Amino acid sequence: MTKRKLPSSFFWGNSVSSMQTEGAWNEDGKGLSVYDIRPAGKNTTDWHVAIDEYHRYEEDLDLMKDMNMNMYRIQISWSRVCPDGDGEFNEKGIAFYDLLINAMLERGIEPMVCLYHFDMPLHLANNYNGFMSRHVLDAFVRFGKKMIDHFSDRVKYWIVFNEHNLYFQDEVFNISGYEKGSKTLDDMYTIFHHTAVAHVRLANYIHENYDDLKIGGMLAYQQIYPETCQPQDIWTAKKIQEFLNFNIYDIDTGHGYSPEVMQYIQDNNIQADIQAADLVEFKQAKADFLAFSYYCSWTISSEKIPDNVAPNRYLNFAGVENKYLKANDWGWTIDPLGFRNAITTMYDRYRIPIFPIENGIGLKEVWDGEHMIEDDERIAYHHDHIKALKDAVFLDGAKVLGYLGWGLIDIPSSHADVEKRYGAVYVNRSNHDLKDLKRVPKKSFYWFQKILKDNGDSL
Ligand code: BG6
Repeated sequence: MTKRKLPSSFFWGNSVSSMQTEGAWNEDGKGLSVYDIRPAGKNTTDWHVAIDEYHRYEEDLDLMKDMNMNMYRIQISWSRVCPDGDGEFNEKGIAFYDLLINAMLERGIEPMVCLYHFDMPLHLANNYNGFMSRHVLDAFVRFGKKMIDHFSDRVKYWIVFNEHNLYFQDEVFNISGYEKGSKTLDDMYTIFHHTAVAHVRLANYIHENYDDLKIGGMLAYQQIYPETCQPQDIWTAKKIQEFLNFNIYDIDTGHGYSPEVMQYIQDNNIQADIQAADLVEFKQAKADFLAFSYYCSWTISSEKIPDNVAPNRYLNFAGVENKYLKANDWGWTIDPLGFRNAITTMYDRYRIPIFPIENGIGLKEVWDGEHMIEDDERIAYHHDHIKALKDAVFLDGAKVLGYLGWGLIDIPSSHADVEKRYGAVYVNRSNHDLKDLKRVPKKSFYWFQKILKDNGDSL
């Protein structure tokens, strides 16, 4: 049998958020986001400088090009281009993304844009309680349409919410600009619903107005294993996946809420702001691809879940160790077969191209100022996950658009911890010492360079 090859159009690249890369938190008219006022902790940094990509994007893009990448997923920071979120647009902020995107295209790097990655403009958090309010939903759709119109000639790949399923779990209260309230299920369902309406409106806007743009849903895919073959464990794992994976993709693909979720809303008398007209809009929704982040899998035991807990909250209680898997220092398991399982399951169910746009391993590394960091563990992680992706394509028949690693030039982790690094390039700073922010390729940089050059053929 001849060796099967990934298509030459396959995307290889890097993926980031704006607050984890840009810095320049108060420059050129940027407004404050909720992240900009978060103080540094004992072991974490503030978000003001990140890796200063605002001023160093040319150098970072050169490194990505040298690695043979052909896609970079960025986020357009809402508060940079519209300081209050619902007021005047900031031309200087838009001009920055013009420069960044043009610089990508000059290097043969295709941009993918995400419109929201947890950093609500502070004005909207303080005055409207973030996505609890329809005012914020409308303001976000206005911002999204403006960005789509402005960049449509250069940006063909769009996602709306990073890890949309986090808005259907307790994490929602940290990432949606929610400042007031008692974190009830009613509030969770209202916020999730508002974000779902925002996603669908922008997806429908793209499909009604632009033939050549592609937009997809994006989840932190929950690859869940039952701890035992007890039917209750298997049922609980299924329930989590229905609520946290498929419910969201079902909405993105025009099927509306999962029947299980709808039934739950009804039976538990959940008071969420779900309006009939929204559900009509949902019917028009289409996804050109289904994107997801994947770092690890989770194993659960139904016995650990107290009575009367909503499926949205099962994972707060149910996690157990999986003795078959190794984990990194933060307890995130290393499970490439779980990655294949995720891709294949999604493709089997939706028959829409799948796009893993975040994958990687956080490791503790300190550069001695002289020698190359030998990150063999990272190389092994990406090697095994790319091989698993190829198995999903060649052995399971899935269609996959590309593979983007997360933070392949080091960035602060989501908890503002620079010591948890994902990069193939080291950025010389620590949590409280900015040093010189020098970019230093690690061993994995050269590994990626080689693997990407031949489109993954050698794996
Ligand atoms: C995803 C987020 O959950 O995972 C990123 O989209 C985050 O913002 C990434 O950085 C890795 O998680 P962490 O906590 O290790 O940074």
